[in-house]
Amino acid sequence: MESKTQAAPASGPRAHLFYETSHSPSLVDLVGYERARDIIDFCFIANPYYPTPAMLEDLQRQLPNLIKSYPSGSALLSQKNLAEVLRVNPENLIIGNGASELIVLINMCLIDRIAVPVPTFGEYIEKLRDQRDAELYFLDPADRYTLRLDDYLSWVHRRALKSLLVINPGNPTGQSISLDEMVDFLHRTADLELVIVDESFIDFAGDPIPSLLPLAERFSNVLIVRSMSKHCGVPGLRLGYCYSGNLYVLNRLRRFVPTWNLNTVAQYFLSLLPATDGAYHEGRRRLMGDVRWLQAALESISGIEVYPTGANFVLFKIKGGMTAAELQGRLLDEHQMYVRDCANKLGMDCFHVRVASQGRDKDERLVEALRALVP
Ligand SMILES: Cc1ncc(COP(=O)(O)O)c(C=O)c1O
Repeated sequence: MESKTQAAPASGPRAHLFYETSHSPSLVDLVGYERARDIIDFCFIANPYYPTPAMLEDLQRQLPNLIKSYPSGSALLSQKNLAEVLRVNPENLIIGNGASELIVLINMCLIDRIAVPVPTFGEYIEKLRDQRDAELYFLDPADRYTLRLDDYLSWVHRRALKSLLVINPGNPTGQSISLDEMVDFLHRTADLELVIVDESFIDFAGDPIPSLLPLAERFSNVLIVRSMSKHCGVPGLRLGYCYSGNLYVLNRLRRFVPTWNLNTVAQYFLSLLPATDGAYHEGRRRLMGDVRWLQAALESISGIEVYPTGANFVLFKIKGGMTAAELQGRLLDEHQMYVRDCANKLGMDCFHVRVASQGRDKDERLVEALRALVP
């Protein structure tokens, strides 16, 4: 869809891969395993401080046994481990092979037509039964793609839509909506059938975490979706979950969750969560500090306009005419750094770049490189 309407970039495997989907290609796809080791990947939006080195060693030790075992056929044990750190009822959780698996199920089982603010995370519009089922609410570039909930809701009501999506903090914008504002919004969306709130980045939005999880049971039409790839730093394990106070909605989804959808390594990782929760929150707070530093440092570069963020990444716009693809190419070739050119995201122009914090040292190197390229 969006990728097909995008003008084809210059030839070469890198450009071809990049425009094939609305996601950025993984660094390994782009340059191979060998070279990928020497490149700092700022596309990678995952917590660099978790799992801890001790957890990784433990996983390594367990790997031979885990590979030779079948996963548990019951999801309940994993749900209990996760529920313990989230402080929620395990029965109200469904754990998926990444949030992406759940998004497909939600789209297939629960959605006829849904309002989606764009730019967005592409799976919400690409994995619908029919892509025309997404009613796109285009955010205004002149207003920094800000999602204004009042305007959005009026638009949803005018179109008589019964389902809507909010991603908070937004991806790719990073825009964060306060908990009070979200609760107020949920009261005003009580007439809708389904309100999906994707909180994949909420753990970086504040302390305490301004999540709707503790309040969701009050709103029977609310379904919270969260990827664990980002906040737990495990994109390769494929873990995400959804949560609702409405067991009827969850059961409609559960029927279609594949048996053994979680692999043994992912299940073992979940079993480590309760004992390592302290380390998780320590790492999360440290990363929030890194992001604050990164944002301030980027704001000091006059060649770019930096958007406010509540996530672990920062979106910026290049001001002087250089495109995001050009900047991406130069960072890769001259500085061995990989950033996200957002041009293939529906609703975005070709001047936006997203960078995820990789920890203070690497972030400092990025800022230095940007100062040289877009002064
Ligand atoms: C807002 C949002 N939701 C869900 C996902 C899916 O993540 P995963 O399938 O890795 O859990 C992503 C991934 O980038 C995302 O940005």
